[in-house]
Amino acid sequence: MNSQTASPRRVENIQTDKGSVPVYATGIVEQPWDDYSATDHDTWARLFRPQREVLVGRACDEFLRAQDAMGLTPDAIPKFTELNRVLGDATGWQVIGVEGLLPELDFFDHLANRRFPVTWWIRKPEQIDYIAEPDLFHDLFGHVPLLMVPMFADYMAAYGRGGIKAHGIGAEALQHLTRLYWYTVEFGLIKQADGLRIYGSGIVSSKGESLYSLESPAPNRIAFDLQRIMRTRYRIDDYQKTYFVIDSFEQLIEATFPDFRPIYAELASQESIPAGEVLHTDTVLHAGTGEGWASDGDV
Ligand code: PHE
Ligand code: CO
Repeated sequence: MNSQTASPRRVENIQTDKGSVPVYATGIVEQPWDDYSATDHDTWARLFRPQREVLVGRACDEFLRAQDAMGLTPDAIPKFTELNRVLGDATGWQVIGVEGLLPELDFFDHLANRRFPVTWWIRKPEQIDYIAEPDLFHDLFGHVPLLMVPMFADYMAAYGRGGIKAHGIGAEALQHLTRLYWYTVEFGLIKQADGLRIYGSGIVSSKGESLYSLESPAPNRIAFDLQRIMRTRYRIDDYQKTYFVIDSFEQLIEATFPDFRPIYAELASQESIPAGEVLHTDTVLHAGTGEGWASDGDV
């Protein structure tokens, strides 16, 4: 076992309008489990233990039950081959190892075929509290559990098919669909009998945001509304200014079942909404105080 940390294979850096950006190999890689160092396994444990504790009573019941069913423990970085037996039996999904973020079409194609790309490497010890890009902890601890839940599993596959379709329609349609992913898959909240709970992967893999999203007076909490979400800009470098709340996974599936083509056409003539704005048409569960919000930087 090597004593450092196992690292991704970067193909090269390319120049974009945002400067020099690392590009990863886009192929599927077999999880090099034997290459994880003691440090890597320790990082997993140091993230897993406190985060799981924070999530009891905060993440939705389906998520917590799924983590248990998958046999996730702090003891060691899970083996994809073992997870895939459980996951395949439950919903037909598989996780596949990748080096990092994929081009949109590759990502959609995997989802449409019930393959969830998981970054195989884990962050370095100095990145325990924050890492800008998805790593194994975010992808596996955060995203994979809900793929055990039949309704959510179907939603993710439908999203992949919808992504391929939106990609063919144009950049604006794709942007509208991406916002839906952001405000549901990554940052969604759900109403349960005993109160608001988290289901978004971006929240469940962050201790700070798990507390903030549910307990801080600063952010807005607004009832799920498909077209409203598709018009709403978001934050990538900070906690969200607004969270959207679903009543159930059924509500999410039903709202996204119709053909989005006419919706994209209708949205084309409408302005986007700043991340923190509340509209008079919103069903507001909590109007945020806006405390600590940056005044610019919505994407
Ligand atoms: N119904 C959407 C479409 O026609 C596809 C979709 C399903 C998108 C589920 C997101 C989630 O494009
Ligand atoms: Co994610």
